[in-house]
Amino acid sequence: MKILVTGGTGYIGSHTIVELQQQGFEVIIVDNLSNSTAAVVERIEMITGIKPALEVFDLCDALKTSRFFGEQQDIAAVMHFAASKSVSESVRYPLKYYRNNLLSTINLLKSMVDCNIRYLAFSSSCTVYGQPEKLPVTEQSPLLKAESPYGNTKRIIEDMIADTVNASGLTAISLRYFNPIGAHESALIGEAPSVVPDNLVPYLTQTAAGIRPFLRVFGNDYDTPDGTPIRDYLHVVDLAKAHVVALKRMLDGKEKSRYEVFNLGTGKGHSVMEVIQSFERVSGMKLNYQVVSRRPGDIVKIWADPSYANTELGWKTEKDLDEMMKSAWDWEKAKK
Ligand code: UD1
Repeated sequence: MKILVTGGTGYIGSHTIVELQQQGFEVIIVDNLSNSTAAVVERIEMITGIKPALEVFDLCDALKTSRFFGEQQDIAAVMHFAASKSVSESVRYPLKYYRNNLLSTINLLKSMVDCNIRYLAFSSSCTVYGQPEKLPVTEQSPLLKAESPYGNTKRIIEDMIADTVNASGLTAISLRYFNPIGAHESALIGEAPSVVPDNLVPYLTQTAAGIRPFLRVFGNDYDTPDGTPIRDYLHVVDLAKAHVVALKRMLDGKEKSRYEVFNLGTGKGHSVMEVIQSFERVSGMKLNYQVVSRRPGDIVKIWADPSYANTELGWKTEKDLDEMMKSAWDWEKAKK
């Protein structure tokens, strides 16, 4: 069965492809390589023995997108990862984010409906909850105003998908990720941003590798036990596995409604300082870091209530923080 993976050379997409192939699915990738490289397909092949097909074009190009779908007859489902994902960049260049993330999804949804491709798994984010009043957050927690244009694109896309489900034969699942970190155990794929990373863990491992002089800890005066913000970090391979389960749920007709939403997290929060301590524990190194002022747009704390995904999908995370940080560090050391 052939699955189209948009953004498949990116961080979460590439790990998901490995899991899909290992479960017998055939994969075709569409990617514009804006924040990744084509070499990822060879890395995937080294892990699974199968090289996924790669089509390089931008889903914002309506003509190319509809032509591509016109040529593909046998796509059973789509996993949609392709998006710009830097919160800070989205604050500086909001229109780039609205254009890239929304236009690509509009073109994708239109082609899916036109070609009668019925199943979609969408890469959403816990950012749709803003700073929740009650923790942990369930799927019923209110969606608050997004803290950034990036976050707003995720909210708008969720609405676009829900509306398209109502108006067509589409069935979809939005997976709201908390903070994915770590890398595949082979250290052949991992997070490899083409630009200076925004996210904590790639910045931290690049600092330890000597690429960055020090990690900036954005504030230690928050209302948390050690003063640094708390997030629900989950291993990217655990996250990738959830995608395959969600896909099978739709393919097997097990969904409770034609549009479903799941929180994907561990249910445990860790502070920035705990992440640093975990890294120091597993690497045996001292990390160079400095506490600086708060980063605009950061929330204080969030972690998931993953019980709905645990019971309904039969999925739960397996890896703890030390395992996540060890795999992130192994990947950084192996990266060329
Ligand atoms: C954000 C989004 C998330 C999105 C992700 C994609 C929110 C609430 N979350 O995650 O939805 O999917 O970006 O990129 O908008 N930190 C440092 N130093 C650094 C980098 C980060 O101290 O150099 C701290 C941050 O202040 C934060 C934590 O590390 O407390 C995690 O930051 P990051 O990895 O950027 O993820 P989020 O901002 O949580």
